[in-house]
Amino acid sequence: MKIMPTNKIGILGFGCVGQGLYDVLQDNQQLEVARICVRDKNKERKLPASAFTFDAQELLQDESLVILTELISNPEEALVLIRQALEAGKTVVSANKKAVAENLPELIALQQKYGSRLLYEAAVCGSIPILRTLEAYYADEPMQEVSGILNGSSNYILTKLDTEGCSYEEALRQAQELGFAEADPTLDVAGHDALHKICIIAAHAFGVLVDVKEVLRFGIAGITAEDIDLAHKLGARIKLVASAKYNVVQQLEVQVLPTFVWPDNELYYVQHEFNGVVLEAKYAGSQFLKGRGAGSHPTGSAVWADVTAALKGYKYTYPKLKPVKTQLADDTIQIYLRLDGEKCIPNLRWQEVVSFGVSLNKVQLVGKIKRSELMQHQAYLEGCDGFVATLPSGVSLNAFVQKAIQHEQVTA
Ligand code: HSE
Repeated sequence: MKIMPTNKIGILGFGCVGQGLYDVLQDNQQLEVARICVRDKNKERKLPASAFTFDAQELLQDESLVILTELISNPEEALVLIRQALEAGKTVVSANKKAVAENLPELIALQQKYGSRLLYEAAVCGSIPILRTLEAYYADEPMQEVSGILNGSSNYILTKLDTEGCSYEEALRQAQELGFAEADPTLDVAGHDALHKICIIAAHAFGVLVDVKEVLRFGIAGITAEDIDLAHKLGARIKLVASAKYNVVQQLEVQVLPTFVWPDNELYYVQHEFNGVVLEAKYAGSQFLKGRGAGSHPTGSAVWADVTAALKGYKYTYPKLKPVKTQLADDTIQIYLRLDGEKCIPNLRWQEVVSFGVSLNKVQLVGKIKRSELMQHQAYLEGCDGFVATLPSGVSLNAFVQKAIQHEQVTA
């Protein structure tokens, strides 16, 4: 005998994630989908017109819904809807990382004031249950570090460039076609999406509410075959890594940077749209979580996990939340920089620098520099398609350059 679902769910947005959730809900039959709110009245859809509404208020004001899922891509509109739902005391599940990351203090305050609930596992690392792990399992254990590959599209592009010699444009087009990329893919390739995710992680792992504007961020948009070749010569791969970790004087370092990784690093093996997260907990030690970080069903699965958890009463408690603003560390980092030869190298205050690939066409150098100094030149470097990547602190600049030059001499 078929049991009819008694709980009704509202879905705002029917893009890649909304459709993924819908498929999962159809398989499970535990919840009835009340209505799906979409914007475009002319788009052809796989469901009958009666399944849809164009008025979000129809869902927001429907008292019969036990849960509202916000899965639209526009972060400003998403924020307005989440705010309204939380003010009405509702339970909301969102996948919108930008809206959550940039407004977390307000969203936490609204939940406290109105007794409402907001869950957003699907906003971070697709199918990997990272927030639940940090919130529930590591609620009382201090974390030393959380870092990893948090953007599926960039990782997909890097994998295609690295293993198939695909062009950047072609790899990005595929990432868009496969439903991995954001509506505005600049969010993916310029590192904003990974930045939003690491800021959300920082709130749950360390109790620190990070202002996205204070974080050093570079993406992969300026990468060329030359950078990929260099990584090959060095026996490394370039990955977009977002990290938040305490330094030796217990200040939190947060950054999003393309990073040279070698085969001794778990992240080296995270390919295509997969994400990978390294956790370093005080007593448990190191752990590594890997899973699909983007795509319709993996992300739909994460929304579904939040929906069912919320129905059983689960909510975030932000167990480590610090009441005062945390000053982020401004340490020295090691970077590789490549610029088109016609562009001016900005006058950076290096603590140490070695240039090795200077020709009419390009300038390549490695050096040590403060995060804040690099941030000041971020807009210029991004504007002229420069490529910045970091080298782990254990890698010697001279050894890096020697290896790069040796190869040039052999192949010259
Ligand atoms: N555009 C995102 C990514 C989707 O590529 O990771 C999942 O958050």
